[in-house]
Amino acid sequence: MSVTKLNKDLEHLNMQAAEVIKVESSAWDSIAGMKAQKEIIEKKILLPLTNKKLAKKHGVTLPKALLLFGPPGTGKTSFTKGIAGKLGWSLVEISPSELVTEGLHFEAQQLKQIFSQLNGLKNIVVFIDEFEELAINAEKATKAERMLSNEMLKQIPQFRKNEQVLLVCATNHIHHLNSALLRPGRFDFILPIGPLDKEAASAVISIYLEKINHNTIDLELVAEKAKNFTPADIESVIAQVAQSAFEKELSSKHDYKVSTQDILKYLSIQKPTINKEDMELFQKQIKEYGRCASGCIYCFTGEGQNKSCNKEVEKLNSNTRI
Ligand SMILES: Nc1ncnc2c1ncn2[C@@H]1O[C@H](COP(=O)(O)OP(=O)(O)OP(=O)(O)O)[C@@H](O)[C@H]1O
Ligand SMILES: [Mg+2]
Repeated sequence: MSVTKLNKDLEHLNMQAAEVIKVESSAWDSIAGMKAQKEIIEKKILLPLTNKKLAKKHGVTLPKALLLFGPPGTGKTSFTKGIAGKLGWSLVEISPSELVTEGLHFEAQQLKQIFSQLNGLKNIVVFIDEFEELAINAEKATKAERMLSNEMLKQIPQFRKNEQVLLVCATNHIHHLNSALLRPGRFDFILPIGPLDKEAASAVISIYLEKINHNTIDLELVAEKAKNFTPADIESVIAQVAQSAFEKELSSKHDYKVSTQDILKYLSIQKPTINKEDMELFQKQIKEYGRCASGCIYCFTGEGQNKSCNKEVEKLNSNTRI
């Protein structure tokens, strides 16, 4: 079945919870910084999927499912779109909050129906955001939520049997997930996506600088102060800087160019979305979910390759240090 046909079928079934999203091929390149994550995804997901024969020759298992976790606004959706764009595959997004609640079995049934529509399709990235809503920890769950979570447990292995597909799930609350879903055999990779590192911060600031009237800015200095902010935090800082410059010129009647000091001033008063506690929790989660039985979370490569995986864990940790 084609993706266009799938879209029609989903509409016909009144499946508001699933839609096909158009992604630009440039989406991957617009992700600034985040080198460690980009490298892992490129080497272990994109390259095997685009070099299937060679991967098979070397016994590299083709990835089928990826879980991204991290605080809000850190780029989980952007990475998913980037993956779909780079592969040139269609992106089908399932929104758990759009599943209609009508009776105990209804949500689970809709989920099953959506996945049965997807079975057999090739070249698709299926994206489930707010994954915790479909996969809540059994102790905390209501009966309906448990049914949904059980359905998800059944659907992932089923989905994995398809060729040329990738499931990407994203969550801000990995600690609320049903642990059965985190065991090997479901996700090939569980990857933390944290706040901006210095390079990403610098790239995001450069984008916003294009919109304002500024002098030469010491990007190095500004990016150092802005690391661990989210892009939304940076956007807010630049908006305040712009307003202040506008007011200054209005009263002085002289051209006012924003300086490095102006940006540093507003950066120092901006409250970062991710506070110290969130950051500490995220660090703990990286460690806690940073392993799996057959290797490490970043790759199901088996015992032999644990060493290189651990290096990657260190790299990711250093990116997200406070
Ligand atoms: N590395 C990056 N480089 C440039 N822009 C980025 C980067 N990461 C995120 N952004 C921008 O920041 C905004 C938030 O990113 P995104 O929606 O991907 O975050 P998220 O982790 O999915 O958030 P949430 O948890 O709320 O769903 C978007 O406008 C996105 O374009
Ligand atoms: Mg998102």
